[in-house]
Parts: sequence; C-alpha cells; structure tokens
Amino acid sequence: MIEHEPGWHDRAAAKSRPLFVPPAGETAQEAADRVKREGAEAAAVLLAEVPRRYRHCNRWTWKGDWPSAVDAWQPAPGADPWALLLLGDPGVGKTHVATTLYLKLGAGFRRRRWVSVEDLVRSEQRAIAGRQSGDNRGEGGLDSALDCELLLLDDVGSGRGTEWATALVASVLYHRHEHMAPTIITSNAKCAEDFAVFDHRISSRLREGTLRVLLEGPDRRSIRP
Ligand SMILES: Nc1ncnc2c1ncn2[C@@H]1O[C@H](COP(=O)(O)OP(=O)(O)OP(=O)(O)O)[C@@H](O)[C@H]1O
Ligand SMILES: [Mg+2]
Repeated sequence: MIEHEPGWHDRAAAKSRPLFVPPAGETAQEAADRVKREGAEAAAVLLAEVPRRYRHCNRWTWKGDWPSAVDAWQPAPGADPWALLLLGDPGVGKTHVATTLYLKLGAGFRRRRWVSVEDLVRSEQRAIAGRQSGDNRGEGGLDSALDCELLLLDDVGSGRGTEWATALVASVLYHRHEHMAPTIITSNAKCAEDFAVFDHRISSRLREGTLRVLLEGPDRRSIRP
C-alpha cells in the first residue's frame, strides 16, 4: 500500500472540487456568459472615461518597441512607487502609454480618474464660479483628483496657465505623494529636476518613490499613418 503524506486526502479533495460553482438557479453556461458580459461592460465603462482621441491606445496599436520599463509599475495604495512619470517631447507617445496602462489597471480601482491638467483646472474654475453665483451643484474636479484610487494626470508642468492653476496642480501632487496614492503623470519634462514650473518642494516629491520613464522618438503626430 502506498503511504501518502498526512493531509493528502484533503488536498486531493480540494483539487477535485470544481473551481467555479455557479450560483443557484444559474447553469454553468449562463454563469460563464454573465461573467463575460460583466467583463465587457466594465471595459466599456473604463473606455468611456478616456477622451475619444485616446481610446485607440493599447499595446497592439503601438508601433516600435514598447517601453517595457513601465510594466514594472504595480500600483498599490500606500506603496512606492506611488507615481509613474512618463517624460519626453511632444508626440512621443506618453499619453498613449499612460492610457494603455490606465485601461489595463483601471478595473482594479473603483474610484479612478483620467484627467488632463487643462480639464482639471477648467472644471475647478467652473465649480468655483458656480459656487460664487450660489449654484452648488457643479462639483469641482479637484476632490476626485485628490482622493481617487488611481489618477492619470495628463500634461503636467507645461508652464501654461496661471499661478493659481500651477498651485492647484501642485496641491494634487503634494497630496498624492503624501498618501502614496497611485498616479500616472505625463509631462514634457525630461527628468524630475525639470519641473521648473513647480517650486523645489514639489520637484523634490516627484523624485521620491517615483518610477520615471523617458520616452524618445519621433513626433508621431507628424507621421502619416
Ligand atoms: N509608438 C507609437 N505607436 C503608435 N502610435 C503612437 C506611438 N506614439 C504615439 N502614437 C500616437 O501619436 C499620437 C500622439 O501621441 P501622444 O498623444 O501619446 O503623445 P505625447 O507624448 O503625449 O505628446 P504631448 O507631450 O504633446 O502630449 C497619439 O495618437 C498616439 O496614439
Ligand atoms: Mg500627451
């Protein structure tokens, strides 16, 4: 008789159990169809959060070598690297890569936001104007940018906009660094030291616990498909 190590019965029984037990009233096929449908619905919701121009972005529409350094980023609340900084000249594909990651990782975060600095500033200005005229319905974009679990903040530190707008973005970065909140940042800066638009306190925080990837190549906007 073959002597088995103790406990093997339990392990064998666990292995022979079906991996997925459909809820009562649902056949295995119905359950599989539902899971597929829910996955497709979640993907559609995620895609709708991305501006139309970037909805085509994924690894399959990327031409040339994929910047594989970005795949090392495994965002988790309260852990470094809290931010992935995608740096480089206009048109090299920073927003394409950022969006690809957002679509890949986004499903793992309930509260998430894809927003450009321009839109963040505009929505906050609108909300402030609304509050001043007694209309409290308009919600500023700031709160969700501060507190969401995954933030994609596009086009940081371009130097455009007012001092107030720069301070607004700085406060988002300050807060997310403080809370180690997963953030994807794109910028025309070439390195963390290059965020000249912010004061030293912010550029210092953009160096701490961040994964920085410099993208290089042609301006794809000027290349015909
Ligand atoms: N390697 C690539 N393969 C395929 N398409 C690309 C690639 N790089 C960029 N693109 C496409 O070129 C366009 C411009 O890229 P993207 O917006 O990502 O540039 P960017 O680096 O964010 O520029 P900016 O600094 O001006 O915001 C997008 O439509 C994007 O999908
Ligand atoms: Mg961009």
